[in-house]
Amino acid sequence: MQPLILPVLLASFWTVCTGSADWCYQSQFTCEHQCNAPAMWDHASSNCAGSVQSPINIVTRKTLKDERLTHFEFKNYKQIITSRVKNNGHSVQVEIPHLSSISGGGLPNTYKAVQFHLHWGNDGGPGSEHTIDGEQYPMELHIVHMKHHYTDLKTALSDPEGVAVLGFFYEMSNSENQKYDPLISSLQKITATNTNTSLLSTSLAQLIPSETNLTSYYRYKGSLTTPPCTEAVIWTVFENPIPLSMNQLKAFSELRFADKKQMVDNFRPIQRLNGRQVFWSGSAMTLASSVLLVSAITMALGMAQPN
Ligand SMILES: *[C@@H]1O[C@H](CO)[C@@H](O)[C@H](O)[C@H]1NC(C)=O
Ligand SMILES: *[C@@H]1O[C@H](CO)[C@@H](O)[C@H](O)[C@H]1NC(C)=O
Ligand SMILES: [Zn+2]
Repeated sequence: MQPLILPVLLASFWTVCTGSADWCYQSQFTCEHQCNAPAMWDHASSNCAGSVQSPINIVTRKTLKDERLTHFEFKNYKQIITSRVKNNGHSVQVEIPHLSSISGGGLPNTYKAVQFHLHWGNDGGPGSEHTIDGEQYPMELHIVHMKHHYTDLKTALSDPEGVAVLGFFYEMSNSENQKYDPLISSLQKITATNTNTSLLSTSLAQLIPSETNLTSYYRYKGSLTTPPCTEAVIWTVFENPIPLSMNQLKAFSELRFADKKQMVDNFRPIQRLNGRQVFWSGSAMTLASSVLLVSAITMALGMAQPN
């Protein structure tokens, strides 16, 4: 009889773990709360076991430089977002009125901003979803866009190129980033899951590096990094990180999951590349320095003209 006990126990554990479409991060999984952790997300949505999943580790040595990855045009990114910031039980999320958009950057279309949210670690520890040569940054911002003619994300996700997500890393800096004050001060009002508060004077432009620092980025095709893990995302991961102080990074760990545990380590582990090529826009030469370069060449050409 003895040897039977383990399989029976395992079988009942399996039933509990797979019985629900409820998904969670590894940091939420305990014996008392057996939710579907990332390795079991395919029980919440079969897409999560697909072959072009996100996030990935970007091996810079294996990226391919692509001249088509030109600079982005950001439209209405400076507009103040009059919206609410919400603790949705997995992250902090802000729905954006569909007025800001991106084009260029090698994208096949214009994409309009739908929402943004973040993924972070524990009190400023490693917490980004994408990693660069194995390095995990403390946090990652995702600005989710959909092809301009769609009106809702659900429809856009049925198009294999329907969604474009811009990913930005954070790095610890010694000084506070005051542009983040409105967002970070709102966090203390939404520590509980399913609460929200109004977001004070913040624009998308304010949350990301200046345009001249956004010319160096990686591009690949992947998926949403949470269930339903739909494989409909053109990913852009920017090289230049956003600076935040340690206290600002730690503020995110004050949020709570639905089970009231600290909302920390809300990132999905990296997924297999399965033969995908990651493209790179080229060196971090800024717009300003390329303008200088062009004028230098023009001058040199001018000087070489025979009189
Ligand atoms: C914010 O919370 C209120 C009260 O629970 C709710 O009625 C409202 O729908 C929420 N708004 C958003 C955008 O989640
Ligand atoms: C832009 O990049 C430079 C060089 O990496 C850095 O010193 C500067 O702080 C960055 N500016 C912004 C706004 O990110
Ligand atoms: Zn995300």
